[in-house]
Amino acid sequence: MCGIFAVFSSSRKPFAGKKCKGRFKKCLREIAYDQSSKQRHRGPEHTGIEVLESDGVAMVHERLAIVGVYTGDQPFRSDKGHILMVANGEIYNYLELSEKIREKRPSYKPKSDCSVLIELYEDHGVELFSYITGMYAFALYDEESKNILLARDPYGIIPMYFGRDREQNIWVASEMKCLVDVCTEIEVFEPGTMMFGPVKELKKKRFFNPDWFDKPLRTHTNLTLLRETFEKAVHSHLECEVKFGCLLSGGVDSSLVASIATKIVRQTDPDFKLETFSIGLEGAPDFEYSNKVAKFIGSHHTEIHFTVDQGLDCIRDIIYKLETYDITTVRCSIPMYMMTRFMKSKGIKMVLSGEGADEIFGGYLYFHKAPNPEDFHHELVKRVRQLHLSDCLRANKSSMAWGIELRVPFLDKEFVDLVMSINPAEKIPGPLNQFQINGKRSHGPRIEKYILRKAFDGGSYLPDDVLWRQKEQFSDGVGYSWIDTISEYAASHVTDEDFAAAAEIYPINTPTTKEAFYYRAIFEEMFPGDHCARTVQKWVPRTDWGCSDDPSGRKQATHTAHKKCKTDV
Ligand SMILES: *[C@@H]1O[C@H](CO)[C@@H](O)[C@H](O)[C@H]1NC(C)=O
Repeated sequence: MCGIFAVFSSSRKPFAGKKCKGRFKKCLREIAYDQSSKQRHRGPEHTGIEVLESDGVAMVHERLAIVGVYTGDQPFRSDKGHILMVANGEIYNYLELSEKIREKRPSYKPKSDCSVLIELYEDHGVELFSYITGMYAFALYDEESKNILLARDPYGIIPMYFGRDREQNIWVASEMKCLVDVCTEIEVFEPGTMMFGPVKELKKKRFFNPDWFDKPLRTHTNLTLLRETFEKAVHSHLECEVKFGCLLSGGVDSSLVASIATKIVRQTDPDFKLETFSIGLEGAPDFEYSNKVAKFIGSHHTEIHFTVDQGLDCIRDIIYKLETYDITTVRCSIPMYMMTRFMKSKGIKMVLSGEGADEIFGGYLYFHKAPNPEDFHHELVKRVRQLHLSDCLRANKSSMAWGIELRVPFLDKEFVDLVMSINPAEKIPGPLNQFQINGKRSHGPRIEKYILRKAFDGGSYLPDDVLWRQKEQFSDGVGYSWIDTISEYAASHVTDEDFAAAAEIYPINTPTTKEAFYYRAIFEEMFPGDHCARTVQKWVPRTDWGCSDDPSGRKQATHTAHKKCKTDV
């Protein structure tokens, strides 16, 4: 994974942007290099730049090499030379795609997984998206037609921001920090969409629009198919030329990923031991379960302990790195941020994780309060469509802060499509649901993510008490005192007087607690202006279903048993 940056001058003249006001006038190449330096943590290994002086176009690529380690430096140029591209992400089906490309061009060899995007563009134009599975954001420029193509994957696993300055020049970057001092408009690039056309007539178009966005479908659960499709997804996510590991919170999602990955690699390497990692405060509930899983799957497991103070130290860093002031995201990201730093120090460059399962299966505790399957489905769709502002943002930016690539097999295109097409009546959790699986009707209470657990039942994947474990919110799992302490600590910085003026100071997304106010104030220092504030969205459960608006598991009323509202990774 990497960081990408591109600037397209609106006048096609050598760029004379805002950053030229210093003592020396900067050339386009310097402007691009400097702006992109703010996201250089995403690509610790190489910086590549291409400048098309006469078109006023520059592209920068900060590289973390995972696939095509020796051949994949970017920006890429097409064989004929007129197409230039920078891409961030992984195209998981690139070997298959390369085969297809070779039917037309027998000598074709991909330089890395992302390099196929150029050939696909040459062959299919903007229809290329239907061929690729993966996580990606890219910027492409066709020097002949002068067309720009920008795009982001269906769920926004990979970040991208889009901005314009006063002169209507267009700026694109993986992280907002590269744009904040040059652009007067900034927006989050919408997942599953592209922008295409010449610089002055860029048109936005959605290329990802599955039927289940609008209405629930009625497919019956097929547990065999569910299992096989997920195994296939994990398999494709293992494509990697460097040392990798797996996050292991001991919750069902990450544990399944670790178990399946181990089984797959052992088919070719019977002695394989997966590197697994978990993090928590001393005595955290997650450790007990992650140790169980580690023993069960025979992984090489590392427990990372942190202290509350070490966690609190990271607040500013995390707001800067993640570019958010959402309280859930800030609280949950800190342990992950510390964990990926440790992993990096052990030589790990890629890590598998369990994000996305809660959104597609309905794993959050507040889903127990869904009034009916229809509403349940629409809420899932909303969660899935906001992943890029919450869990995907957290996962990507907390790991990329240290130059580690994080992959999320639950968000595999085919798998999400399968799960989201299932009749929501068969997925909804609750005390008295009637549901139907493999044609049989059953009654009775149903745990969240029932069908996922059921698909891997039988004892060969995970021990029963892990497979059927009730959820811990990620940040509850690391130790119950974490949430309480961080919210008290954050709130202690804010006076009653300041807080009383919250609506005046922050008319957009006004903070409703002192904790939120504190994160917002830090964010505002680093990313001033309404346009930056608008890029953030708050993660809240459905208060109209009777949930507390604090998403922490233990603040949810339904938590009384052993249930928690948000979940582990
Ligand atoms: C369920 O999926 C499996 C695997 O794809 C398939 O072989 C089987 O026929 C399916 N069962 C039903 C009832 O459709």
